[in-house]
Amino acid sequence: MLSFLAGGLAVGCLILIVQSRTIPPLMPAVAAEAEQAPAPPDPWLEGATEEKFAQIERHLRGLDVAMAEIGYRYGELLHAGQTRNWEYAQYQTEKIDLALRLAVERRPKRAKSCQPFLNESLPEVLKAVKAKDGVRLGGALEKLHAGCVQCHQAENVLYFKESVDRIKERAAPPERKTMLIEPAELQKKLKQPGLRILDTRAAVDYAKGHIPGAVWVDVKSWQDQGKKEDGFHDAKAWGEKVGQLGIGHDSPVVVYGSSPTDTARIWWTLKYVGLPNVAILNGGWQLWAKEQQPIEDAVPKVEAVKFEPKFQADRLEEIDSLKKSVQAGKVTAVDARGSEDVEAILETELRPLVGRASTV
Ligand code: HEC
Repeated sequence: MLSFLAGGLAVGCLILIVQSRTIPPLMPAVAAEAEQAPAPPDPWLEGATEEKFAQIERHLRGLDVAMAEIGYRYGELLHAGQTRNWEYAQYQTEKIDLALRLAVERRPKRAKSCQPFLNESLPEVLKAVKAKDGVRLGGALEKLHAGCVQCHQAENVLYFKESVDRIKERAAPPERKTMLIEPAELQKKLKQPGLRILDTRAAVDYAKGHIPGAVWVDVKSWQDQGKKEDGFHDAKAWGEKVGQLGIGHDSPVVVYGSSPTDTARIWWTLKYVGLPNVAILNGGWQLWAKEQQPIEDAVPKVEAVKFEPKFQADRLEEIDSLKKSVQAGKVTAVDARGSEDVEAILETELRPLVGRASTV
């Protein structure tokens, strides 16, 4: 019995010993390390020289880290180009060059694919930046983008195309902060391809002389369309009205006239059908004429295009939801029409609510 107990104890001790061998002895190791002196200067690099180099190589990785950097810098470069920040554009171009050169130094087998990019596309960007030539830079950046895609194709990683396109989209210029364009600015842009200028004055005035290249727009017919029952949801009607002026979704448009209300109506409607780039000529026809900017009476030929409206619902307040919002005190309605019109609608529609609507 006693020997059995003793035997049991012995087995227990054995198990304990075995266990202390198999569980990694954390604390003793820490103590042992502390005893080792002196501590290595770079604790993350250990072992023989080759091992250290192998470790560094692992940290630097192949092209993916370089590409994450290049993708970021490419976005910054696009933005710098758009804001004409030449120094920053140059900085980013040189960093892209360096990042890619170092990357293919690490991965020589990629070197061939990026030769056109490094030797042609990127230097052309740098030249345009140094010349502070915005137009040239625009063309060079387009080619650079194609260069990114080309190398991805050569390297069989074309699935990154989407992310590269997204960088470009994100860097797209912000929508004009101001909806106004100055006469002098417009005068410089008169020859810009694709620009559409709309004249909202009476047809007889337009015929006597207008801004070169301007097209007459029939404000009355736009107004009538808007007044129709459900008129603002008629995609076919608006598609025709806008399309026959040769305006597509990408067209930059400038609207002017002698009546601010007519000009604003056309501007608003174009924004509502989904055009991102519409501006109003500051000072309208009056200022243009006063500044003696160029005028012509030739009527430009306009080719109608197919236009599909993308109605911007948030730009159109429906009477029902407007009533609700006014009732809830969430909005103040401001009416820009003549006071007789306003009085009528205030009486019937809004004044009974809270009387927050007022004429400007
Ligand atoms: C050597 C030719 C080459 C050029 C030039 C090149 N890329 Fe790449 N890119 C690659 C390769 C290869 C990969 C895949 C990386 C990997 O898996 O090792 C890649 C991956 C990427 C990625 C994904 C990175 C990640 O891991 O999330 C982005 C973003 C990218 N490239 C952007 C660009 C942009 C922007 C340009 C142009 C300014 C460009 N690339 C030019 C070869 C190139």
